[in-house]
Amino acid sequence: MDILGKIQLHREEERRLAWEGTFGEYLEILKERPYVAQSAHSRVYNMIKDAGIEEVNGTKKYNFFNNQIFGLEDSIERLVEEYFHPAAKRLDVRKRILLLMGPVSGGKSTIVTMLKRGLEDYSKTEAGAVYAIKGCPMHEDPLHLIPHHLRDDFYREFGIRIEGNLSPLNTMRLEKEYGNCIEDVIVERVFFSEDKRTGIGTFSPSDPKSQDIADLTGSIDFSTIAEFGSESDPRAYRFDGELNKANRGMMEFQEMLKCDEKFLWHLLSLTQEGNFKAGRFALISADELIVAHTNESEYRSFIANKKNEALHSRIIVMGVPYNLRVSEEERIYEKMIKESDISHVHIAPHALRVAAIFSVLTRLMDSKKQGMDLIKKMRLYDGEIVEGYNHIDLEDLQKEFADEGMSGIDPRYVINRISSAIIRKEITSINALDVLRSMKDGLDHHASITKEDKERFINFISLARKEYDEIAKKEVQKAFVYSYEESAKTLMDNYLDNVEAYCNKNKLRDPLTGEEMSPDEKLMRSIEEQIGISENAKKAFREEILIRISAYARKGKKFDYNSHERLREAIQKKLFADLKDVVKITTSSKTPDEAQLKKVNEVIARLVDEHGYNTTSANELLKYVGSLLNR
Ligand SMILES: Nc1ncnc2c1ncn2[C@@H]1O[C@H](COP(=O)(O)OP(=O)(O)O)[C@@H](O)[C@H]1O
Ligand SMILES: [Mg+2]
Repeated sequence: MDILGKIQLHREEERRLAWEGTFGEYLEILKERPYVAQSAHSRVYNMIKDAGIEEVNGTKKYNFFNNQIFGLEDSIERLVEEYFHPAAKRLDVRKRILLLMGPVSGGKSTIVTMLKRGLEDYSKTEAGAVYAIKGCPMHEDPLHLIPHHLRDDFYREFGIRIEGNLSPLNTMRLEKEYGNCIEDVIVERVFFSEDKRTGIGTFSPSDPKSQDIADLTGSIDFSTIAEFGSESDPRAYRFDGELNKANRGMMEFQEMLKCDEKFLWHLLSLTQEGNFKAGRFALISADELIVAHTNESEYRSFIANKKNEALHSRIIVMGVPYNLRVSEEERIYEKMIKESDISHVHIAPHALRVAAIFSVLTRLMDSKKQGMDLIKKMRLYDGEIVEGYNHIDLEDLQKEFADEGMSGIDPRYVINRISSAIIRKEITSINALDVLRSMKDGLDHHASITKEDKERFINFISLARKEYDEIAKKEVQKAFVYSYEESAKTLMDNYLDNVEAYCNKNKLRDPLTGEEMSPDEKLMRSIEEQIGISENAKKAFREEILIRISAYARKGKKFDYNSHERLREAIQKKLFADLKDVVKITTSSKTPDEAQLKKVNEVIARLVDEHGYNTTSANELLKYVGSLLNR
């Protein structure tokens, strides 16, 4: 459908969803769908829940955050289970300001923005519908119209609890416009929209000297004082502060701790008591989620300041550390690149992975665990199998440091460095080495890196480079084999058949001739030697593999090429050993003969067709691997 058609459809949809009626009619709606009267916190929680929850390895995965936030499952789970869920149930945490605390560019704003955009959409659904007193600048909850002495009766009839007082403005309107007939007050369905300042607000601190509390709580409208006669007439007041506008929904408080204290006190009264003070009016009730965010150092200095003591207990802090999983980090970059203006550039395979390896390494802390190093830790965190460690070790590692992930290289730095490499070279293709080089060059200008950090980080660049060297070699060697996966599988099956016969002291049958034959010792050794298994150790190794196979069988899992890390390595090395000379000669020959040229073209074609390279990046890869093999 073309864009005009879509615009029309959108308008029709808006018309279809609109509703307006009297308070009496609204009560009819509540009889059938009492949930539309839910609190702001409850609506946020239900929005997240309705998007679906999956359980993966004991961690809850909230689909709501799926497409935008990667690798933060644990933090998100905490956020939902320790804040949104109990807040929705009207427990006490609701009365605290939610403060997301984490390192720069770690996804805090992204989380808040998702909640805001999510609420806008959710308010258009049945489950997320919101109704308000029509003509009220704060979209006040119509149930505030019910006088306090009738609220218990109302609860018995509807099962809905009412909190909050009718605002000064609507109290006056009720009297003047409706002659105190509550049932006649017009109610309408509202749709949250940050642009229209309905139910979603953002407050960001400016210069503390000039910032006016009116930005939060509204201000007197001097042009209408003459008309209404007094400053304390609510009609002469503009309820257009962020707190007013965000009523029923949520307000984002950016850089909260940079703000002057008087602003914080307003917020605290709002979260704590459900109301705030504006102008010369009685307290104004409001129901909204307040989310603030800040970085660790600001938070620490806030905590250290005695003056703020009373505020501590009224803030609930949720950590949002950097992601620590390499493959999730790659997804972050992919997402950011897709949203950027470099999305047309060819990024060679593994370029983002290598960048991710570097960033994750800068965020990890050295473990005291026996034999552990950062590379192994990085692999374990990413769900890879590391021989000698299991999921219990992983859990130990994750518990070892409370503030792991609170420092290191941030995703935006990586994307900026990739962009700058692309722009400077005006290239249309960028590879892993370009990326690493640019990241290294950038360290000199990075604002918040100390000299020691820089040395550590340069070391991580070389670690990432070493990882890349292995990846690159494997990639090329694979491309040299006509059908790599199949060859590996055939070789492994063959090896396993022999191992089985050896351990069970059986004979094998030749598939062609049907003849009986002894296990092929030469073949088995040629594979085992690749990973340094000595003659004395071979029996134990073979038995270990058989045990692994039967353990797999017992669990109903298929034992395959990836099931045993060292065996896989051995098979791979064996395949590559047979190839090594061909690869070496072909990739590094300055004057290739016809056969070599043919082979090179074949390999490049395979890299392009099957592995995601373009001809430039495939050629660069071959040249690089050639130089590696000749070292
Ligand atoms: N864990 C993550 N998952 C997805 N994107 C992330 C993650 N961490 C950072 N980003 C991306 O990095 C950029 C900066 O994140 P942002 O939310 O502005 O961070 P913060 O507000 O914490 O400084 C954004 O483009 C964001 O999408
Ligand atoms: Mg931010």
